[in-house]
Amino acid sequence: MAGMESFQALVARQDGDRIDAAIETLQASDLPPGDVTIRVQYSSVNFKDALALTPKGGVVRDYPIVPGIDLTGEVVSSESPDFAAGDLVLAHGYQIGTGHHGGYAEYARLPADQVVGLGALSPREGAAIGTAGFTAAMSVQALTDHGITPQHGPIVVTGATGGVGSVSVDLLAAAGYEVVASTGKADQADHLRALGATEVIGRLPADPEAKPRPLGKTRWAAAVDCVGGATLADVLSTLQYGGAVAASGLTGGAGLNTTVMPFILRGVSLLGIDSVQLAIGPRRALWAELSGALKPRHLDDVTHEVAVKDVVEVLDQVRAGRYSGRAVVKVAGGF
Ligand SMILES: NC(=O)c1ccc[n+]([C@@H]2O[C@H](COP(=O)([O-])OP(=O)(O)OC[C@H]3O[C@@H](n4cnc5c(N)ncnc54)[C@H](OP(=O)(O)O)[C@@H]3O)[C@@H](O)[C@H]2O)c1
Repeated sequence: MAGMESFQALVARQDGDRIDAAIETLQASDLPPGDVTIRVQYSSVNFKDALALTPKGGVVRDYPIVPGIDLTGEVVSSESPDFAAGDLVLAHGYQIGTGHHGGYAEYARLPADQVVGLGALSPREGAAIGTAGFTAAMSVQALTDHGITPQHGPIVVTGATGGVGSVSVDLLAAAGYEVVASTGKADQADHLRALGATEVIGRLPADPEAKPRPLGKTRWAAAVDCVGGATLADVLSTLQYGGAVAASGLTGGAGLNTTVMPFILRGVSLLGIDSVQLAIGPRRALWAELSGALKPRHLDDVTHEVAVKDVVEVLDQVRAGRYSGRAVVKVAGGF
């Protein structure tokens, strides 16, 4: 590994309509301002990282940029009293990897109020949970805060084999909910059952060609949805009276073609989930739970490891919806 004066990073550059990503040597002066400098050990792969390498992906403000919306590692220097050299930390959100340099680099520099202590988690475990697992935890928290209990009935998780989906299945099953996993990957049914799903179904709506109905037969007490589009509309129209959906994503589309009927006739709630701008206080509190009682039980089963030099290939699969589970990106020693 190069010294701190210069270090290795995967850099995405815009060239007309193309986004190219290549390993480059950066200088310490290339790091953004901040009071905590971190030697990165792991990052991860999220749908947003795939969008960062997609022309007109809509998530990166200005290129060139080091992508990687998650990072975990060791503090090498800190001008903040909250952190000291040697501390193991993580960071995500606040436009890390989209508005300024992210985790696919040997070093990162951040304001202290964007940094979270890893607690009992290892850097690899922190990255394996990452933004996707944290968003899953926020989604489950939103449903429980809304008063949804296991006694209310089954919870459907859409995009179930993805990062948000697979950790949601794990967390909900651990909390005693009956979990129905909705996936486009029929060959992953056994894996989803091993995570705790009691039933595995195809993507929703079951018939994408059928005209959407304002209200369908009630099926779910609640839902964790990271797909959006026609899937979210279908889920809204099939929630039980008083049901709720925690909505975080748009892999199936950003549009939402629905009616007010589920809201005004069934008291359904649409709970928006945003992990990017969540304040550091509740962010640290939820990570403390994830490093303790809420730690996903099947992290190792859903986690693959990829070296940063090979991450572009994995991001291509994620963009195409072909990837399952969570990929951690080995940064230290991964170039
Ligand atoms: N709001 C937030 O703070 C926040 C945080 C993290 C992620 N997100 C968003 O949540 C979504 C999921 O993120 P992720 O990291 O979990 O992504 P991911 O690992 O790529 O998983 C997404 C899953 O969505 C399903 N899917 C993919 N393409 C689809 C399509 N065209 N139609 C229907 N389903 C499709 C696939 O699951 P199956 O094959 O199993 O169906 C895929 O595994 C993304 O939109 C991401 O931007 C938002």
